[in-house]
Amino acid sequence: MVSGGMTCVKYLLYVFNLLFFVSGAVILAIGAVIYVVYGHYSNFVYDSFQSAPLVLIIVGVIIFLVAFFGCCGACKENHCMIITFSVLLLVIFTMELGTGIAGYVRRNEVEVMLENKLNSTMYDYYSNEKIKETWDIAQHEGKCCGMNGPQDWNLVNHNNTLPHTCCPDTPDDGTCTLNSPNIYTASCFSKLKDGFTKYGSIIGGVGIGIAVCQLMGVVFACCLARSIRQEYETV
Ligand SMILES: *[C@@H]1O[C@H](CO)[C@@H](O)[C@H](O)[C@H]1NC(C)=O
Ligand SMILES: *[C@@H]1O[C@H](CO)[C@@H](O)[C@H](O)[C@H]1NC(C)=O
Repeated sequence: MVSGGMTCVKYLLYVFNLLFFVSGAVILAIGAVIYVVYGHYSNFVYDSFQSAPLVLIIVGVIIFLVAFFGCCGACKENHCMIITFSVLLLVIFTMELGTGIAGYVRRNEVEVMLENKLNSTMYDYYSNEKIKETWDIAQHEGKCCGMNGPQDWNLVNHNNTLPHTCCPDTPDDGTCTLNSPNIYTASCFSKLKDGFTKYGSIIGGVGIGIAVCQLMGVVFACCLARSIRQEYETV
């Protein structure tokens, strides 16, 4: 049995593993939420961004497994398991750092992507059922109309009508036009950009918190591993 201060480190390692368990669950949940909530905006997103929620889900599962390793290692005071745990943790930490830096570097790309995608998909609104659905959801949920405003739709249909989702107060069988009462006037580009930025910051903040916990976990695990080894050598 490890003794004295190391018992304390051992229990700290338990606590940190609990945190990893929770952080694994949080990452998994964020991935699932993005997958479900932003899934229907996939027409507005480059293919390379669509795998992001799946990556989060996979990372969440890996963290679950690693936390399990750490708990067993601390419990059994198994040197090999604790070292494995530390190495896995460092690998995950490096991956997170890489993903975080890539995300930070690419954050401005989101704006350009939205600009391109919104512009190009608007012109397919009347011909593509899926794109129509995406735009209707965006306008309904964002309380917005058109990429920059309702007047954009005239560039597309040249008949001064608007998609029905721009007119919340017009009956289903009515025609939605620029003169309809209470039409949405906000730009969907701004609304979507704000939404993406907000979610991005939340994910970034959570990520930094988790990364700091993990680094501390590695330090504790190494302390514990060293003390276990010393015990073996003195016996
Ligand atoms: C889309 O982009 C083209 C070229 O930059 C521009 O002429 C057009 O007005 C844009 N359409 C909308 C709806 O903003
Ligand atoms: C306006 O143009 C769109 C696209 O061509 C068409 O689907 C729609 O029926 C037109 N609306 C009216 C009232 O003509």
